[in-house]
Amino acid sequence: MKTILIRGGRVIDPASSLDAELDVLLRDGKVAAIDAPGQSKLKKDEEVEIIEANGLVVAPGLVDIHVHLREPGQIYKETIASGTAAAAAGGFTSVCAMPNTIPVNDSPETTRWMQSADRGAVIHVFPIAAATRGSAGEALSEYGSLKAAGAVAITDDGKPILNDAIMRQALAAAARAGLPVIQHAEDTRLTANGSMNAGPMAFRLGLRGMPTEAESGLVERDIRLLAEFKDTRPHLHVAHVSTAAALESVRRARRNGLRVTCEVTPHHFLLTEEAVGLYDTNAKMNPPLRSAADRNAMLAGILDGTVDAIATDHAPHATHEKEQEFERAPNGITGLETALGLSLSWLHKTHKLALTSVISLLSTQPAAVLALKGRGSLAVGSFADVVIFDPAKEWIFKAKQSRSKSNNTPFDGYTLLGKVHFTISEGRVVFQARG
Ligand code: DOR
Ligand code: ZN
Repeated sequence: MKTILIRGGRVIDPASSLDAELDVLLRDGKVAAIDAPGQSKLKKDEEVEIIEANGLVVAPGLVDIHVHLREPGQIYKETIASGTAAAAAGGFTSVCAMPNTIPVNDSPETTRWMQSADRGAVIHVFPIAAATRGSAGEALSEYGSLKAAGAVAITDDGKPILNDAIMRQALAAAARAGLPVIQHAEDTRLTANGSMNAGPMAFRLGLRGMPTEAESGLVERDIRLLAEFKDTRPHLHVAHVSTAAALESVRRARRNGLRVTCEVTPHHFLLTEEAVGLYDTNAKMNPPLRSAADRNAMLAGILDGTVDAIATDHAPHATHEKEQEFERAPNGITGLETALGLSLSWLHKTHKLALTSVISLLSTQPAAVLALKGRGSLAVGSFADVVIFDPAKEWIFKAKQSRSKSNNTPFDGYTLLGKVHFTISEGRVVFQARG
């Protein structure tokens, strides 16, 4: 592996409060040094690749703690190879893969299989394992052995744990294993047959709605259960928060000293249910796009620090699956190649969130939420995971050109801010922009 010297860029590392013109030296897959311009010391006869980064931002590689890679089982939608290639193009160097594969990832064997070099991942994949066997919500999977196999959290994403006793057991066992419990907060008893947010828009379209209370009610329930634990302090992470009420519950719980974190997706801080238009299935996902008031609450939560991380919920589906009646089409949109551009244009340019905060929400903070050691930081000794992007460049995203196997995005044709030039994963260039 060649040593890489990144010269003359604006190095932003939220983990070490760094924002200055510096050179970054990557050696043997790790960050070897950060030096004043021109001061990096190379070894005698060392082979070095030089990347000129004048005018570009050099930041820790992005970390997405919520992606669906579809492998094993649905490789016509995505594979670990294609999903990680899309991630690299979007500036990501780590992704956490949800367990709703076929079979469900509830075993150390599948967890290991997903991480095998044979899968062709170009960046690091951290599996998240199922909280219960088959995500059936009945018997817990074995958290200790899942963690030993490399799982970084447990969840039944998409099939939330509704039963109080099972959720209590999951929190207790996860605390013992030292793993966060991720909850996709949706009381499915209230959302049956719903296909978009409950409200005037659903009424107008003649679609059954999914009420906000289905989300906020389950978050409240989870927080109530979490508060029962006095000594072991389990960690609850609320996935893709989409409602003002749920975010308020997280805010309050945190103020009361509970160990709760949460993530918000770009589509929930940017779009509203209006994007459904006339039954656009590329605006159908779960949780659904909400009202403008909820969308604005996501933005406020990002700006005031309640939101710990931006995560994409990258959920690829084939065109033939999305080209069906709205109610029959599957939930989910892709997101890996648009997350940085949407965050920069909407949060940084429009809402004046500092560049370092945007990077932190996409890298340092998500890595901290799931305790991914050596990720989300450019500190010497960290993994040489780096994204180099032009923060001022606007470009048009074309879904057809995606590296993902699927094109189900509502952001086709959007003008995005911030063009990724290089993505480096553990010291290897895994994406380089053309031209
Ligand atoms: O929109 C979604 N898509 N929400 C989920 O909870 C699951 C995901 C998927 O796997 O397609
Ligand atoms: Zn989910």
